[in-house]
Amino acid sequence: MPAMPIRRILVTSALPYANGQIHLGHLVEYIQTDIFVRFQKLRGQQAIYLCADDTHGTAIMIRARSEGRSERELIAAMRSDHLADFAGFQIEFDHYGSTDSDANRRLCARVWDSLRAKGLVVSREVRQLFDAQAGVFLADRFVRGTCPRCRAPDQYGDACEKCTATYSPADLIDPVSTLSGAIPEIRSAEHLFVTLEAMHGFLQQWTRDSGALDPRIFNYLSGHFLGEPLRDWDISRPAPYFGFEIPDAPGHYWYVWFDAPVGYIAATEEWCAIHGGSLADWWQRGGSNTPAAEIHHFIGKDITYFHTLFWPAMLEAAQLSLPTKVRIHGFLTVNGEKMSKSRGTFLLARTYLDHLDPGALRYYYAAKLSGDIDDIDLSLEDFAAKVNSDLVGKVVNLASRTARWLEASGLAENYPDDGGLFAQAATDGTGIAAAYEACDFARAMRQVMAAADRANAYVDAEQPWKLAKAGPAAAARLRDVATVALNLFRQIVVYLAPVLPKLAAQVGELVGGPIGSWDESQRPLVGLPVGTFHSLARRVEPAHIEALMTASMPASPPPSASASSPASAAPPTSSGASEVTTDPAEPLAAEPLAPECTIDDFAKVDLRVARILAAEEVPEAKKLLKITVSLGGEERRTVFAGIKGFHEPAALVGRLVVVVANLAPRQMRFGLSEGMIVAASGAGATGVYLLSPDSGALPGMRLH
Ligand code: 2FM
Ligand code: ZN
Repeated sequence: MPAMPIRRILVTSALPYANGQIHLGHLVEYIQTDIFVRFQKLRGQQAIYLCADDTHGTAIMIRARSEGRSERELIAAMRSDHLADFAGFQIEFDHYGSTDSDANRRLCARVWDSLRAKGLVVSREVRQLFDAQAGVFLADRFVRGTCPRCRAPDQYGDACEKCTATYSPADLIDPVSTLSGAIPEIRSAEHLFVTLEAMHGFLQQWTRDSGALDPRIFNYLSGHFLGEPLRDWDISRPAPYFGFEIPDAPGHYWYVWFDAPVGYIAATEEWCAIHGGSLADWWQRGGSNTPAAEIHHFIGKDITYFHTLFWPAMLEAAQLSLPTKVRIHGFLTVNGEKMSKSRGTFLLARTYLDHLDPGALRYYYAAKLSGDIDDIDLSLEDFAAKVNSDLVGKVVNLASRTARWLEASGLAENYPDDGGLFAQAATDGTGIAAAYEACDFARAMRQVMAAADRANAYVDAEQPWKLAKAGPAAAARLRDVATVALNLFRQIVVYLAPVLPKLAAQVGELVGGPIGSWDESQRPLVGLPVGTFHSLARRVEPAHIEALMTASMPASPPPSASASSPASAAPPTSSGASEVTTDPAEPLAAEPLAPECTIDDFAKVDLRVARILAAEEVPEAKKLLKITVSLGGEERRTVFAGIKGFHEPAALVGRLVVVVANLAPRQMRFGLSEGMIVAASGAGATGVYLLSPDSGALPGMRLH
């Protein structure tokens, strides 16, 4: 049989925004992409996994501002957090770029020139809400107001959550900017648009016939977009905007969703610069439009239309390769519900890694993912049960109860009769590989666990522990039984290697050397030394899960969704929309009001907004945290705050607080305290509550 040619496969995950931390919802995608790529590499294909931070846009600009640093400082800090989280979960990119790179700027210009050359760009005036106080045009999510259709208060700028109406932010009644609380003005600005309708025929045909999309996705696109003329795509934003200025339209910037997917190509170019080859090897169309390589995009269902309409249109205009597959997955729920900060189920990657083994989550996700668009649930109880039963109870148990019998003798010289178990699991490899290829990892895991069940039944029947007690007479049999068990174990671990790379590496050290190829599942090992067995997996205990959830709880109760928006600062409506509560009297009674003071007395206390730059425990002090705050620019203060035990130091970093900035410095046993952080506490309080300003406040602003 002629050898199959090696496939060249370029694989991407959606580029994470540089304004947020990686959480377990993101990881559904990165873990599944990583499994797919590791599988392809194990099968001997040339696969590369590319990703990058998605760095541009209003949200990043606003966050950088509110934290008193530049966008580039923010994205550099985020990048290192993202990379640490990904490495912690053993997600191995071949290259991790940034959309804020020279390569991306150049490639955006190339795609842009193609769109212009084909006459696909037009310009139009757009009426948009402008926050004069913050000095920015407001993206839809930064405006709230009353729905023009059903009059529901406190709705987003583009759609009403109550009656599902969609509208333009300019149509909202009583709009309020969530950035500053200001009432926005309507301003006109010129925007550039891509006339997608000119590509309707191409998009219709590609989404239906290319094989890149599941037919259900084609049906969705037909029902929502392709069934009518495609609307022009608003592709530019006027200054101020953090992004790339459009070379032939000064003062205008590409909208973040234009430069983000081009980031896939930029990451490829950077990878080529390091590893050789050229962009054409991956993105150039060959003869009769055959792509130079397969391109697989893994994405969440919420960004389907960007990747199945806009992106193919851009690639088609630039005559670059179209995706071979757009692999779309659902969202993550935790314990059956949307992740929630107040329930302690908004689980950050970093918090998880502080308490649990990344392999456990990789396995659990693999066991849940079947390559379709359905949401998956991380039920924490089920997670513990499944990991303990499958990974610890079935897989690792095989080695933990047999490897030690081989430490002295090594594997038997010839592979013993195992009743056909190894051969059966070797044959199963074809089905397991097909399941991986289809991203039906759940099916692959079921087949692997079935092999583990058979192997455990073999060990139970042969009872090597009894053979061990029988002394020299049973030594040869014991070696044979343990040789079979360890081979069945290693075979299973080869199949699991894409999901559990660390386990695979540890097993390689125990016996047989590094697992480098899927073919290693096809031949048993004989006559090799066996190393000392060390524990290969940890049980998930209820205490670990509890600790994870406790660490994921906000330090103080989060404001409700409506309370966080300035729109809700409006007086209660006659419909009684705001709850009437009777607050307890104890705090005030326990600490009566201080004697009257004049405005001049108050003015002596200089209260300022500050950003926490660093927070650490003072080991010798029961109550103190040492906190460094920024008052803007180079102005820093070190303060010792009595909030230890109430606030996780790491969770404080980046947070805005209020400080007494002109308090006389005080020499303490641990150092000089140069101010005070304002916090509330008192009778009946179980915590110490820090004060935070509304979003939009900047370090250094004075409280009046
Ligand atoms: O939805 C998101 O998180 C985007 N940052 C994904 C971008 S994917 C690509 F197109 F760059
Ligand atoms: Zn409505």
